[in-house]
Amino acid sequence: MDLLIVGAGFFGLTVAERAAAAGRKVMVIDRRHHIGGNAYSEDEPTTGIEVHRYGAHLFHTSNPTVWEYVNRFTTFTSYVHKVYTNHHGVVFPLPINLGTINQFFQAAFTPDEARAIVRESADEFDAKSARNLEERGIGLIGRPLYEAFIRDYTAKQWQTDPRDLPAEVISRLPVRYTYDNRYFNDTWEGLPTDGYTAWLERMADHPNIEVKLGVDYFDDTQPLHKRATVGQVPVVYTGPVDRYFDYAEGALSWRTLDFEEEVLEVGDFQGTSVMNYADAEVPYTRIHEFKHFHPERADRYPTDRTVIMREYSRFATREDEPYYPVGTAEDRAGLLAYRRLVEGEHDVHFGGRLGTYQYLDMHMAIGSALSMWSNRLA
Ligand code: FDA
Repeated sequence: MDLLIVGAGFFGLTVAERAAAAGRKVMVIDRRHHIGGNAYSEDEPTTGIEVHRYGAHLFHTSNPTVWEYVNRFTTFTSYVHKVYTNHHGVVFPLPINLGTINQFFQAAFTPDEARAIVRESADEFDAKSARNLEERGIGLIGRPLYEAFIRDYTAKQWQTDPRDLPAEVISRLPVRYTYDNRYFNDTWEGLPTDGYTAWLERMADHPNIEVKLGVDYFDDTQPLHKRATVGQVPVVYTGPVDRYFDYAEGALSWRTLDFEEEVLEVGDFQGTSVMNYADAEVPYTRIHEFKHFHPERADRYPTDRTVIMREYSRFATREDEPYYPVGTAEDRAGLLAYRRLVEGEHDVHFGGRLGTYQYLDMHMAIGSALSMWSNRLA
């Protein structure tokens, strides 16, 4: 074995694929029973509808190197992501755009008129000197739009009143003064034609790559554990950085999600893939309906059943899956302390969203794995 990779997510598999192609013998371990990390998907058994197990994953990138690389393993559909939100029983398009504003104010504002309305209502606070998230939100888009679309949704995401959240949680709230409601602005977007798992399996399919699942790096009873491997073989570690150092500098905080999946005896539940719920009265933040991610599969998906998933957000305990870094002042100080420890680890390379404690989209995880390979490991 020339390289041990801890974690079979996009970061770990990208490094594994590059190393194998360069002739290295690679071992990949993951404590889960499947590859793919959080991008893993599988068919719901009774309907055959592909479900993203750890929350909806939409691929998008403007990075030509990443786009060329990912196309070696999969083709992409022409899916374009759009999100809607239900506020007081009325559905509005997101991100906030001219359509949202005109529907909300029951008006036909031109782009300039809408800009003026937003600017005027945002006068109440100066976004730059805001003391909390609420003041910043109002300072950016004005009270009416903030209260309708941001306040309660944010409170549900963070289980915290936005007046008690630091202003830095949001730096900007994009408002589009056109009717364009494409969710992403990237050059390329789409979904893997035959699913995420087929894509991820093709990345791992190389005679130089061996994958062992259900193996925890910190389990001393298995041979590939931390104490037996560090210093013996180069290691790429994509698990949580605080766990690696046994929480020596404290636990970094994360938010997690709970998913409630249901198969419904109805052909189409909500007419779109993602519906947010903006109000406090509804406990979940959004509902995914997976068949809408693949309209091109209409002939093979059932017409009388559908799979939906309600998503709830909360702070993570150590036992939960870490999804989004919280990033309090304490977390930032902890991360700096961990970075100093990382520098002292000989031939252990920390990468991915858990290893670096930052939210990374898939294209960013793949891009940074390609850089780690060519700059540090090749
Ligand atoms: P990832 O978490 O995927 O993989 C790390 C792996 O390490 C896991 O499989 C884990 O089991 C393993 N591991 C950890 N500790 C271990 C140990 N001790 N021993 C062995 N194995 C261990 N991106 C995007 O581009 N579009 C999108 O729509 C979304 N949507 C989205 C929704 C949600 C809810 C989340 C949380 C994230 C997204 N993402 C996304 C981001 C995407 O999931 C992310 O970019 C990739 O998962 C990053 O891949 P990594 O390999 O870094 O981590």
